[in-house]
Amino acid sequence: MKEIYDIAVVPGDGIGPEVAAASVEVLRAAFGNDCPLRFADHPAGAELYRQTGESFPETTFRACAGADAVLHGAAGIPGVVHPDGTEAGLDFTLRLRFELDLFANIRPIRLYPGIRSPLADVKPGDIDYIILRENSEGLYAARGAGVQLRGEMAVDTLVQTRKGVERIVRKAFELARASNGAPADGVKRVTCVDKANVLRSYAFFRAIFDEVAAEYPDIQAEHGLIDAMAMYLVTKPSHYNVIVTENMFGDILSDLAAATIGGMGLAPSAEVGQDQGLFQAAHGSAPDIAGKGVANPYGTVLSVASMLEWLAARHEDSRLSVAATRIRTAVSAAIADGLISRDLGGDSGSAAITEGLRARLT
Ligand code: IPM
Ligand code: MN
Repeated sequence: MKEIYDIAVVPGDGIGPEVAAASVEVLRAAFGNDCPLRFADHPAGAELYRQTGESFPETTFRACAGADAVLHGAAGIPGVVHPDGTEAGLDFTLRLRFELDLFANIRPIRLYPGIRSPLADVKPGDIDYIILRENSEGLYAARGAGVQLRGEMAVDTLVQTRKGVERIVRKAFELARASNGAPADGVKRVTCVDKANVLRSYAFFRAIFDEVAAEYPDIQAEHGLIDAMAMYLVTKPSHYNVIVTENMFGDILSDLAAATIGGMGLAPSAEVGQDQGLFQAAHGSAPDIAGKGVANPYGTVLSVASMLEWLAARHEDSRLSVAATRIRTAVSAAIADGLISRDLGGDSGSAAITEGLRARLT
């Protein structure tokens, strides 16, 4: 346990600063007068790149690497790109993932009471699973290292290593063991999602999955092909408990899954490695609604609840786990009471939601 935890806050672009500020307010409210978190803001993102030619200053990197946890708003402005055509705003997230080895991207998908899923016949409780996205290799490993030849061809390489696959698969089984199992049948289950029928790299991923699965006889292990999974997450979401998959597949499946629980605004994430953690919603910077007071802070607020749980476990500090539970309870209550943002079909603005969460925490 530490007396004070340093949180590096990187607001970023678009709605990033709004959802980050709302989350800091909620964190403070969750602790009352005795907040063990110290926040410091640091610059990064597409707007910074536009102004200075640098998207992620070394000072910000060092502050993040030295902090107890990193809270990110969101980043990216369409059209603000590097000479190779890739977005400059994404440097922050991607560099942290690779350079701090944040190999596990944990994305809980949960349908809250008060939210109507676009799927027919599902009710709250029916959708409650985790997408565990491998976050340090896969197709994304090629970022900045692909080849584009004379305007005629381009190649990016998908990388799977034994070490990388073993550790993410183990994490999946540990998460399943600690969970309540799938909503449909209560079975603790890990689904390995790949395209092993077509590509060697995915067959390798699956073979390692099977090896590791043998170490967890108490957890059901199964396989799903990525294309079929895009269908099953719509037709039988209650079957799933923990889904483990390659980086790019996890990216795509996360957005599909988020749609089934109301939208990206309710999709949190925790990107963690051995010693570091980055916490941000799974959504982007939504520049079209920035500064209008209508951004949905729930995804980021749920992400900082995960941040507290992660810090609590690492530092054996129950003050943090208690605050995390209080935040989750406040979010459920606020949503159930109808404090619902525009993207989710309601009309509450960011300030009303933040105020509503504070009121439920104090
Ligand atoms: C996500 C985002 C990121 C990704 C971007 C911001 C780099 O879409 O976290 O899902 O592509 O991984
Ligand atoms: Mn994504």
